Amino acid sequence: MQIGRLVALAADLRLTTERLVIRRVAERDVATAIAHEEDRRIMRWIRDALPRDEIAARVRDTLGPWGADDGRWLVLTAAASADDAMLGIVCFRVTDRDQETIEIGYRLHPDHQRRGLAFEAMTALITFLFGAAEARRIVALCAADNEASWRLMEKLGMRREGLLREHSKLAGTWCDELVYGLLRREWTPPID
Ligand SMILES: CC(C)(COP(=O)(O)OP(=O)(O)OC[C@H]1O[C@@H](n2cnc3c(N)ncnc32)[C@H](O)[C@@H]1OP(=O)(O)O)[C@@H](O)C(=O)NCCC(=O)NCCS
Repeated sequence: MQIGRLVALAADLRLTTERLVIRRVAERDVATAIAHEEDRRIMRWIRDALPRDEIAARVRDTLGPWGADDGRWLVLTAAASADDAMLGIVCFRVTDRDQETIEIGYRLHPDHQRRGLAFEAMTALITFLFGAAEARRIVALCAADNEASWRLMEKLGMRREGLLREHSKLAGTWCDELVYGLLRREWTPPID
């Protein structure tokens, strides 16, 4: 994996698709990003509600530099190409440099779901990670009941690799999580 190149490209990353621009989070996104973090329809699968100041600090953190330190997410805005409005985020992190593995994540506001946008965004992101960054392996995790998420991963060609029993706690309940993975040699950009 080309970590140096990944970090250099991440500084001003911009990927374009038919309907989206995927780019670094900008000051103009902050209010929307906070609103999305506070929207339980989006976040119920990701984490429990946080105090507003903690959410604001998390969002502010996404504006700063990213160095591919193990475990630190690079959060990117998925914006409409028509007007640059933030529709959601896609993100990735180097889980462990030695394993040359990158974990990916995604979320969209409900007004923009079920239009193929997450598939479009993640196809572009995976193409970048396997292409320019030469990632060896991409993984993603989701709550076992999050059907939208695991179906998206399967549509992207990711394989179900395992089930982590009671791996995360959401709304006071321990949840099983599914693990999906994809190797660079398996990646052929899927046809919608
Ligand atoms: C998961 C999520 C990003 C999917 O976004 P999306 O833009 O609606 O997904 P797409 O329209 O690109 O759909 C891709 C595939 O995912 C599956 N899918 C998406 N939404 C689904 C739903 N509500 N129920 C079942 N399958 C669904 C389908 O297989 C779909 O392919 P198809 O349209 O050909 O049937 C979105 O539901 C979301 O933001 N959820 C809340 C946050 C979240 O759970 N993030 C992931 C945490 S692990």
